[in-house]
Amino acid sequence: MRFEVQPSKVTDARLTVPGDKSVSHRALMLGGIAEGRTHVRGFLAGEDCLATLAAMSDMGVTILRPAPTELVVDGVGLHGLIAPDTGLDLGNSGTAMRLMAGLLSGQNFSSVLSGDASLSSRPMQRVIGPLELMGATIESHDGCPPLTVHGNPELRGIDYTLPVASAQVKSAILLAGLYADGITTVKEPAVTRDHTERMLVTMGAGLERANHRISMRGHQTLHGCDIEVPADLSSASFIILAAVLAERADVLITDVGVNPTRTGVIDILQAMGASIEFENQRQFGAEPIADIRVRSSSLRGGVVDPALVSLAIDEFPVLFVAAAAAQGKTVFSGLAELRVKESDRIAAMAEGLRALGIQVVEVADGATVYGGPFKGGVVESHGDHRVAMSLAIAATIATDTVVINDVAAVNTSFPGFTNSLEQLGVSIR
Ligand code: S3P
Repeated sequence: MRFEVQPSKVTDARLTVPGDKSVSHRALMLGGIAEGRTHVRGFLAGEDCLATLAAMSDMGVTILRPAPTELVVDGVGLHGLIAPDTGLDLGNSGTAMRLMAGLLSGQNFSSVLSGDASLSSRPMQRVIGPLELMGATIESHDGCPPLTVHGNPELRGIDYTLPVASAQVKSAILLAGLYADGITTVKEPAVTRDHTERMLVTMGAGLERANHRISMRGHQTLHGCDIEVPADLSSASFIILAAVLAERADVLITDVGVNPTRTGVIDILQAMGASIEFENQRQFGAEPIADIRVRSSSLRGGVVDPALVSLAIDEFPVLFVAAAAAQGKTVFSGLAELRVKESDRIAAMAEGLRALGIQVVEVADGATVYGGPFKGGVVESHGDHRVAMSLAIAATIATDTVVINDVAAVNTSFPGFTNSLEQLGVSIR
């Protein structure tokens, strides 16, 4: 599958985007091991979360789906999961694989977690290390999937400092910690998204958080609850940038999650001169949301604060496009983690932007992007949803047609992406 995007005039619009991917995964996993029923509205019906849904069903959780984005999860309790008949295929999803490794570490059965070619090359030692310290045994292929997780119902709590800032690793340890004797403590080198912590508290778990440390006692009962999933700020970022780059547009994106551990992209774009405002701020349960108003603005380059990296970790592909459309140069650093996402995102974006006429100087942990006009051309997504969508936004202001190859992965996180762009007046096929 490929996208063909014409230079387009983005117009005023009011729209929303699909549900948050991180919250949707967690609603399934925590809802599945809670006591009682969890009712989820606004679930992201993208391939990544559907892989988690299938995995939880395969382990005995009854999940009804009265509507595509609505779930009724009948929790089986902490000790109610059963061994799946076959291996669990988690597709493209690093979140599903790493969180599931944590959840499965405390079970009284073994299971095999596998994924597609991209997921099969992603580093898993970062979860294997702490989970083995807790008492699980995990086989891998040189630290990569497939993983065979030999669960141990007698895990022990650990006090662990994450070597890399990662919400996935933090969450894997906390999920295993539910099954561990004593206290499990995770210390983060930088703040990462805290949806797991918020949902655990909503479901009744006691959790202490201070000075980048999260501590939790094991063997706590979770209680099913109602979860309204905010629209995904990471998906909204593509719409936000399309509106910023437009000649004259005023776009409102409604009900978007604005958890402060996720809003680095807004801070970075605002520092570059973007007009972005949060309106109607309120809560969806434990998660803050807002309607985001974006007006076209001219962007200027600068030095992106590396302290914001963990708060904008998924938005650097789209921020590279913002930098390429800005006046002057933009310097990104502290991005080593981008090299082990769904693709090597620094290399993939540098290649894509260069093909559109932009000068990019790549370094090991970042890049300098020189603003300039985009020309048309053919670019590769490297099978990465966020690279594909970022290049589609660049295409809206190119001088000629842009073809983006290999875009099927967009359905992992943003089903309906082309419809959303059409709502903005973008010509995309
Ligand atoms: C996620 C955490 C991030 C992010 C991913 C989703 C999560 O990964 O890139 O898309 O839901 O916990 P890391 O925590 O590995 O940086």
